[in-house]
Amino acid sequence: MVHGKRAMIMSGEMHPWRMPSTSLWIDVFEKIKALGFTAVSFYVHWGLVEYAKDDINFSGFLSLEPFFEAARKTGLYLIARPGPYINAETTGGGTPGWGTRVPGAWRTTNQTYFDAMENYVRSVSRILAKEQITNGGVLVLVQPENEYSYCFESPNCHVPWPQPAYMELLQNMMREEGIVVPTITSNYAPGSGVGEVDIRGYDNYPLSFICNATSTWPDNKLPTNFWEANHNRSGGNPNSIMEMQAGAHGRWGWFTPDDCATLTGSDFERVFYKNYVSFSTTVLNLYMMYGGTNWGGIASPATITSYDYGSPIRENRLLTREKYSELKLLAQFLLVSPAYLTTKPLNQIPNTINGSTFTNNLNLATTQLADVVGNKTVFWVVRHNAYNSLEKSVYRLRVPTSKGTVEVPVLGGDLSLSGRDSKIHVSDYSIGSDTTALYSSGEILTWKQFSSKTVLVIHGFPGETHETAFIVPDQPKLEVKQIAGSALRNSTITSDIVTINYQIPATSSQTVISIGLKLQVVIVNRNTAFDFWTPSWNSGNSSAIVKSPYLIRSADLSNAGVLMIRGDLNQTKVEVEVFADDDINSVSFNGKNVDVRRSGYGSLKFDMTSSDLKVELPNLEKLDWKYIDGLPELRRDFDDSKWTSANKTDSNNPRKPTTPTSLYSSDYGYHTNNILWRGHFIATGTETNFTAEIQGGSAFSAAVYIDDKQISYFGGIYNVAAANLTGVVPALEKGSKHVITVLQDHMGLEQNYGPGGDLHKVPRGILNYRFEGGNGTNVTWKVTGNLGGEHYLDRVRGPLNEGGLYAERQGFHQPSVDTSSWSKGGPAEGLKEAGVRFYYTTFNLDVPRGLDVPISINIKNSTVPTTYRALIYVNGWQFGKYVNNMGPQTSFPVPEGIFNHHGTNTLALSLWNMESNGAKVEGLSLKADGVVETSMWEVEMMPSPIWTKREQAY
Ligand code: GAL
Repeated sequence: MVHGKRAMIMSGEMHPWRMPSTSLWIDVFEKIKALGFTAVSFYVHWGLVEYAKDDINFSGFLSLEPFFEAARKTGLYLIARPGPYINAETTGGGTPGWGTRVPGAWRTTNQTYFDAMENYVRSVSRILAKEQITNGGVLVLVQPENEYSYCFESPNCHVPWPQPAYMELLQNMMREEGIVVPTITSNYAPGSGVGEVDIRGYDNYPLSFICNATSTWPDNKLPTNFWEANHNRSGGNPNSIMEMQAGAHGRWGWFTPDDCATLTGSDFERVFYKNYVSFSTTVLNLYMMYGGTNWGGIASPATITSYDYGSPIRENRLLTREKYSELKLLAQFLLVSPAYLTTKPLNQIPNTINGSTFTNNLNLATTQLADVVGNKTVFWVVRHNAYNSLEKSVYRLRVPTSKGTVEVPVLGGDLSLSGRDSKIHVSDYSIGSDTTALYSSGEILTWKQFSSKTVLVIHGFPGETHETAFIVPDQPKLEVKQIAGSALRNSTITSDIVTINYQIPATSSQTVISIGLKLQVVIVNRNTAFDFWTPSWNSGNSSAIVKSPYLIRSADLSNAGVLMIRGDLNQTKVEVEVFADDDINSVSFNGKNVDVRRSGYGSLKFDMTSSDLKVELPNLEKLDWKYIDGLPELRRDFDDSKWTSANKTDSNNPRKPTTPTSLYSSDYGYHTNNILWRGHFIATGTETNFTAEIQGGSAFSAAVYIDDKQISYFGGIYNVAAANLTGVVPALEKGSKHVITVLQDHMGLEQNYGPGGDLHKVPRGILNYRFEGGNGTNVTWKVTGNLGGEHYLDRVRGPLNEGGLYAERQGFHQPSVDTSSWSKGGPAEGLKEAGVRFYYTTFNLDVPRGLDVPISINIKNSTVPTTYRALIYVNGWQFGKYVNNMGPQTSFPVPEGIFNHHGTNTLALSLWNMESNGAKVEGLSLKADGVVETSMWEVEMMPSPIWTKREQAY
C-alpha cells in the first residue's frame, strides 16, 4: 500500500555513481517509466562517499538530491539500498579502502566495525529520511545491508552466526536518524524477533553469471516453489524479489555484457519473469535495469570497465535491445491489471503432470493465479514443463470462468506455445468499468477507457491463433466489425457474450475490431506491440496510447487542449498514432504542432520526419598527439623522496605480512588503480635472480624493473589474483646502489560477500620478495598510488578516478595541460620498448543540437597478442581500462556531459607495454553508437576541472 492504495512496485536497479554525468539520470528514469515501471532501486557506495575516515562527501556525482529530483520529475518511487555493504561488483563491495586497516570481523556486531560504519550510516540515513514518502518525497523502501543471509564458508562460519543483533543495531541507527518507511531485505522476516525487517525480500539469479554459453539453459533452473517458500518464511508478506536477474556482468578475458544480454534476452524474460509473476510477486526489482560504467577504479576484480550488465537499457542508454521491448509488454500488462495485486497461486508448484488439468498437453505447466480478494479474475500462466524446451506445443486451455468451464479456443484452431515462451491468459478480467474479458488467450498489452470507448491492445507471436470472449454491457445493437486489418477468423454473439477468434498477423499490419459501441480491440504481433506506449499526464490520471517506434517519454495536455507528446525517433520517417479521448484534436510532438488526420476507427495519425540522423566524428589517429615518458621512475636521477615510506612493521591485516615491512598498498592509503613500489638496495654483487610475489586481484598485471630494465612481467590471467614474477638481475657491482621499481595494476578490492570472510581486506601489493644469490640483500621500500591517497585531490571526479602513474600524479590526464615541451607522436606509433607512455590530444565535437548521440572510444584488438594495457581519460575522467592481451572489452562508451558534444575535448591515454619488442594501440577511433532525434532534457557538462600545477606532486 502506498498512501492507502495498493501499489505494484515494479522497479529497475540503477547506480547513480556508475553514471557520473548526472543530468542523464532523468533520461534513464524516463526510459524506465516508459516501460510501465513504477520505481528505481539504487545502492549508495560508502567507499566513494567516505574515502578517508570521517571525510564524508555527498557532492557532485555522489549527491543524492538530483537523483531524488529526477525521480520526482519522472513520477517514480525510489528504493534505497545504502548498505553499508552492497557487493555490486564494486571495489570492496562498497566498503572504503581504509576499512582494510580496521581490525575485527566486518558486517558483525564487532565494535571496531560499528565505529567504522556509524558515521556513514547515520549520514546517509539523514539524507534518505528527508526524501521519504511520509515527508512528501518519493522514497518508499529502505534495504539495510545486502543479502545478509549466509556467512563466509557456511556452515563453518568464522563468526557467530546468524547475527540478528547486527541487523537490529543497524536498523536502530537508521530509525534513529528518521527512517520510517518499511525496511526490506533477505532473511530476518517479520516476526522472526531480533533484527527483523518489515518485509522479507530475496534475490534470484537462476541462470547465474557465466555468459559464454549464451543459449544454454541448464535443466531445472526454473524455480517453482518461491511463493510457498516465501509465504512460509515471511509470515504472509508479499512475495518480494529485491534482485531479479536482468543480465550479468562481463568478465576479464572471458565474455562481454553483450553475451550476458543474449543469455538473458527476451526469451529469458518471457519464461522467467512470467514465472515470477506466477508467484504473485508485487515488489520486484530488476538487477540491473541500467548498469552504467565502472569508470575509474569502481570495479572489483569480478568485472571490467563496462557495467552494461546486458541490461534492458544499454550502458550507452540506447534502447536497441529487444529485451527492453519485451519487458515493456509484461510491465504494461501488469500496470493495467489491478486484480493481480491480490492474487495467490492456487497450485503453488505448477505442474500439469502433478494433476492440474488446465491444458490438454502434458508438456505444459499452468499456474492458476487467482485474485483471492476480488474473487473473480484468474491469470493462467502457461509454460513448458521442461522450462528450457525448444518444442512447439499445441494446446487448449480448459479453465473455469464465471460462465462455466470453457475450452479455448471455442471457435476453431488451437493455441500454441513455441519453445522458450510463456503466456499469461486471463479469465474474468476487467477492462475498464463496463467490460470484462470472460477469457482471453491473446495476451493483453494494455487497455484504456477513453471518453467514448475503451481501447484494448492484444498481442501474440505471428501466426498464433487466439480467442477472446467479452462480457459487454447491455446495448441495443451488438455487432462485431473488423475496421482495419484481417486477423479476425470467426466471431459469435450470444446474449451479452461476444467471442472473437483471430490469427496474429505475420506483418506489422494492425487489426482493429469494434465490438458494439464502446469497445475497440487492436490486434498486433509482438514486434508491432513493441511500438505501443502509454504515457500518462502529469496532471491527473489520464493517459493516451501512443504507437511510435523507439521511445515515447511523456504526454501532457496543454490548457488549450493540445496533446503534447515527447518522444525520440531513430528513423527519419515515422507514422505516429494516438488513441485518446475524442475531444483531443490537436497534437504537438517535441514542442512542434503536427498535422493530424483521423483514422477510420477514430485514432489520430501524423507523420514525423526527422533531420538526417548522421554525425561526423573526428578521426583520432589523424589528430596531433603529444606524449611524455610515463615511467620516469626508471631514470637514474628520479627523485622519490616525497613518496610514502613503506615502513610499517606491523599491519592489522588478517594476513600478517611475511616481509620485513608491510608492502600492502592499503596500509599506506592507496586503494585503487596503478600502484608503484620503489625498493632501494645496495648490491652485494652476487644477486642472480629477483622474485616478487605480487597480488593485484584477478586479471591484474605487474612489471618489475631493476634500474631502467624490465626484468619480469605478468600480463594477467582472468582468474589469477597473485603471481610470482622472477627475473634475472643484471650484473651489479658490489656496494653499488640500485632501485627495484614495481608497477602493478590494482583491480579493486575483493567483495566481502560473506560475513566472517573479510575478503575486502585481502591485500594488494607485494606479498613476498627475495633475491637469489644475494646475501640477504636489504631492500628499503617506498610506495605511491594516487596523489594524496585517501586525501585525494580531485574532489569533483572523486577518489577512484586516478592512480599512481607519474602523469596521473601530476594531473596530466586533465584538460589544458601545457604540452609544448612534450614529444610529438601518438598511440598508433606506440613505443618500442617495455615501459609506459602517456599520450595527450584535443579535438572538437560538433554534434547537432537535438540529437542524442552516445559516443564510444574503440580500440582494435591487436592480432598479435601484445601484452599491453591502456587507460583512457576523457576530459580528465578515466573511462576505460583496455587490456589488449585479455579483453574482452574493446568499446568504451563515454556519456555526454563527460564528453563535450559541442566543443573541445581532451583525450589522454596511458600505454603500459610489457613486451620488450614494443606495442602500439591499433584502430583507436570514435564511434557514434546510435543517432537519435531526442526530446531528452538538456545535458549539462559535468564540471571538469582543468590542470593546474600540483605543487606537491612528485
Ligand atoms: C547479488 C548482489 C549484487 C550483485 C549481484 C551480482 O548477489 O546483491 O550486489 O553483486 O549479486 O551482480
